[in-house]
Parts: sequence; C-alpha cells; structure tokens
Amino acid sequence: MRVFSAALLLIALLAAKAALGASPRTNYLLYCSGCHLPSGIGNPPNVPTLHDELGRMMVVEEMRPYLVKVPGSSQTPLTDAELAAVVNWVLLEFNADTLPEDFQPITAEEVTASRETILADPLKYRIQYWKDYDFE
Ligand code: HEC
Repeated sequence: MRVFSAALLLIALLAAKAALGASPRTNYLLYCSGCHLPSGIGNPPNVPTLHDELGRMMVVEEMRPYLVKVPGSSQTPLTDAELAAVVNWVLLEFNADTLPEDFQPITAEEVTASRETILADPLKYRIQYWKDYDFE
C-alpha cells in the first residue's frame, strides 16, 4: 500500500513538474499545433503557416503585438511569460532566415499589454499594418 501511494505521489509530482516547467516547444505542441500543425505549416487558406512571413513582419513595430493578439495566441491558457516564450520559439524555429538581424525577443510585459485587447478581426489589422495573407 505504501509503495502504491509513493508511486502515486511520484506521478503527481512529475505531472506538476511537466505543467510548470514545459518547454516552449512542448507548449507549442500542446496549444498551437492542433491548428498550425507540429511543423508549423498550418492548413492554408484556413490556418496560416507560421513559417517565414512572421519573421519578415518583425520590421514593422505594430506586428509585434499582432503575434499575441490573434485569438489562437491571446486566448491560450498559457501565462504571459509562457506565451512570450512560445512566440519567440516560433520566430526562431520557423523564421530564422527572415527575422531582422536586430530582432529583440518579445517580452512577457509586451504580451501582458498586447493580450488585453484581442483582435476581433485579425485580418483587418494585418492588412492595415502589413499586408494581406499570401499563401504562395
Ligand atoms: C483553434 C485553432 C488555432 C489555434 C489553437 C492557434 N491558432 Fe494561430 N491562427 C489560427 C487561425 C485561424 C489564424 C488566422 C487568423 C484568425 O482567423 O484568427 C491564426 C493566426 C495566427 C498567427 C498570425 C499568422 C499570420 O500570418 O498572420 C499567429 C502568429 C498565430 N496564429 C500564432 C499562434 C500561436 C502561437 C498559437 C498557440 C499559442 C496559436 N496560434 C494557436 C488558428 C489557431
């Protein structure tokens, strides 16, 4: 019986550790890949790819908050710090070739500020500050 409860405790501890200390990659797989796929290519035109163009967007200041204002990001159960880490991971993992050289990682504080206002119409904001979806 004692061995049994020790095993249960161990499982609970491991689960808690996983929940607290999940890597950005794991959080991406858990909270984003359902739509954007594990490889990040999405399912255009319904779900955009997360490759290359996000990096290009980072030359425009207004597109930094955009990354966390889209509903899939802003409404995720991740904390602001975790979401910042996931978005930075997406940029480095899928956009290394297109990121501006002077790119500064998105901070948790930026996420807190941006996330408060979810975009009801992400495409409208995107066209206003960047450009229309281009799925070529
Ligand atoms: C339920 C499906 C879904 C989930 C889950 C999801 N997204 Fe999305 N994502 C979309 C769709 C659809 C769009 C297109 C804009 C819109 O309609 O919201 C999008 C757009 C985006 C964009 C803008 C892409 C562009 O080219 O304009 C980014 C960045 C993004 N998502 C990041 C994330 C991140 C990071 C997560 C995980 C924390 C996530 N998404 C989770 C469906 C999802």
